[in-house]
Amino acid sequence: MSFPKGFLWGGATAANQYEGGWNEGGKGPSTADMLTNGTHTTPRKITRTWEDGLYYPNHTASNFYHHYKEDIALMGEMGFKVFRMSIAWSRIFPKGIEEEPNEEGLRFYDEVFDELHKQGIEPLVTISHYESPFYLTEKYNGWASRELVDLYVKYCSVIFNRYKDKVKYWLTFNEINCGTMPLGGYLGLGILNEGTTDFMNQKDDPQLRFQGLHHQFIASAKAVKLGHEINPDFKIGCMIAFMTSYPYSCNPKDVLKCQKEMQMGNYYCGDVQVRGEYPYFAKQYWKENNIQIQMEEGDEALLKEGTVDFYSFSYYMTNCVSTDPNLEGIGGNLIGGVKNPYLKASDWGWQIDPDGLRYTLNELYARYQVPLMVVENGLGAFDKLEEGNKVHDSYRIDYLREHIKCMEEAIEDGVDLIGYTPWGCIDLVSASTGEMGKRYGFVYVDSDDYGNGSFNRYKKDSFTWYKKVIASNGTDLD
Ligand code: BG6
Repeated sequence: MSFPKGFLWGGATAANQYEGGWNEGGKGPSTADMLTNGTHTTPRKITRTWEDGLYYPNHTASNFYHHYKEDIALMGEMGFKVFRMSIAWSRIFPKGIEEEPNEEGLRFYDEVFDELHKQGIEPLVTISHYESPFYLTEKYNGWASRELVDLYVKYCSVIFNRYKDKVKYWLTFNEINCGTMPLGGYLGLGILNEGTTDFMNQKDDPQLRFQGLHHQFIASAKAVKLGHEINPDFKIGCMIAFMTSYPYSCNPKDVLKCQKEMQMGNYYCGDVQVRGEYPYFAKQYWKENNIQIQMEEGDEALLKEGTVDFYSFSYYMTNCVSTDPNLEGIGGNLIGGVKNPYLKASDWGWQIDPDGLRYTLNELYARYQVPLMVVENGLGAFDKLEEGNKVHDSYRIDYLREHIKCMEEAIEDGVDLIGYTPWGCIDLVSASTGEMGKRYGFVYVDSDDYGNGSFNRYKKDSFTWYKKVIASNGTDLD
């Protein structure tokens, strides 16, 4: 068994959690810059302005802005073929509404892409990863307004034209399906309703959220069309947070409930972006939830014309679904569920399930029959920096090894899997909690939850291990 030749091994990050330099080089504040820190048990706050005494971890993050050469050299040393990163929209258009882009911001990414190419690494760029210019939230309530479609397309046009010879792989929106959940109101859509202060418990308006998602679908379709016009070699994908659920029991009621969760949580968005139309079950959901999607003339045709070239997704864990309210619950990425007695969980309660990845890959390929890419996967854990700046993260190696084996099996099953970019390849700030202490990387960044530290980079044990995995194209996993 082996991975196909040219398989895209690499790692993934996002500007808001990794880049820092939040107010340098002409960058404007983004939605992520208004989030305070939190913990597993204390939710992050969203503030409309920066309040004294509160800490905003995304401002500094891992300071890639000033460490990019060193970081990219480390990626090159590991043998990365691809590096998933995002462009901060507000570095290019600080408020989102300007006529002209910020040249200094454009130049920064030019330098990053050049550095990547020097190391033989292909960039994979997420155009919008959990951030948009905060001004657009204040002026339009984010994606609730259709105004954002043209502003986003203008931003795409600028970066597509500028980087058309440097970037081939693009993703239009990170985890677009978070917009189907209340948490995604602010996180994915930049919607900040009156009275919201708590990131985990937002004042929710499903009508606005689903209308906002429709705007993102239209924006994504327009971006795909435009991108292909600018460079027909572009490969533009969708990105879904895939949260596989299993029925807790063989009680048909559990099975039906699970099917519904899978439909709305996982398939709703992918169906639109890959198949170019809303799935049949959308109408019933809208009806039950009193949602009226306002479509403009031509929207349906646009969705068909702007379908993506490949399907990418994040995969961290699985959950169970049950109709029994007395079963023990457990957390997870974006949503929790019922505890699965067969699985162990991370320190943050995310259940570890490598076989579930093989199952998910098969389900997705059967449904869409387009190339698949796992663009996030990994174990958030507390790491300990030991004597001699060593981190012995055998738990992370175990997690990744088992997932890689299951990807290999899925490829044997016949799935067209083209790449793998584990999350937070160099430590970064957690999206859900704002902690630095929830680490995913092969490289340790010396900074704590409050941005104290030298920001020096240290290779963990997993660094050497992953280097070997890549060099052997996935055959040496020991
Ligand atoms: C995904 C996001 O949901 O999971 C990332 O795309 C995020 O932005 C990652 O960081 C891991 O989640 P967390 O909450 O551990 O950072």
